[in-house]
Amino acid sequence: MADSLARIAVFISGGGSNLQSLIDASNGRRLCAKIALVVSSNESAYGLERAAQAGITTFVYLPKQYSSKDEAAADLLAHLRREEIDYIALAGYLKMLPGAVVRAYPKRIVNIHPALLPKYGGKGMYGHFVHEAVLASGDKESGVTIHLVDEIYDHGVILEQARVPVLENDTPDSLAARVLVEEHKLYPRVMDKLIKGEYRL
Ligand code: GRF
Repeated sequence: MADSLARIAVFISGGGSNLQSLIDASNGRRLCAKIALVVSSNESAYGLERAAQAGITTFVYLPKQYSSKDEAAADLLAHLRREEIDYIALAGYLKMLPGAVVRAYPKRIVNIHPALLPKYGGKGMYGHFVHEAVLASGDKESGVTIHLVDEIYDHGVILEQARVPVLENDTPDSLAARVLVEEHKLYPRVMDKLIKGEYRL
């Protein structure tokens, strides 16, 4: 019964390869949810094309276009409610969610981070900056972390991690690519488990 499926909003800022993995998992019934909305902080994000190709409603959310932060947050919440969103998956979303949204979805907002938190997290730690920091540290492994979102960057309860080796000749790009393979496997699995109530939270 498609109507009883949980409804996920995926938030993106860029390429949206994790969005694609969630769409594919939903279509393949590996994720018991419908991707019902894609919110982008960037009107030229390639992920918006992926959403359009999958027939998913999109919303480009640009807080600066509103007269106040409260008004922006209220409009975002209105979009989420209109689409009857149950869960939010941040997938390469580079902005902070408004507190009002975080508070409206307790334990229902998840983020994916391309390193083993609590290392290499926090403001400014995204994309190639993360992988550069890992390589500079000399760490022998990196990975992916999927965690609940609270009002502090990269801070909420960790749901799952997957590890990958750091190889001697790695560049930020080669390490990112190895981590991304694990991201695409792990994110749909974690969303499915969360929705099925398989985490003790
Ligand atoms: C991923 O590495 C994710 O962990 C990070 O941003 C990247 C997004 O990639 N938060 P994509 O847009 O899903 O391809």
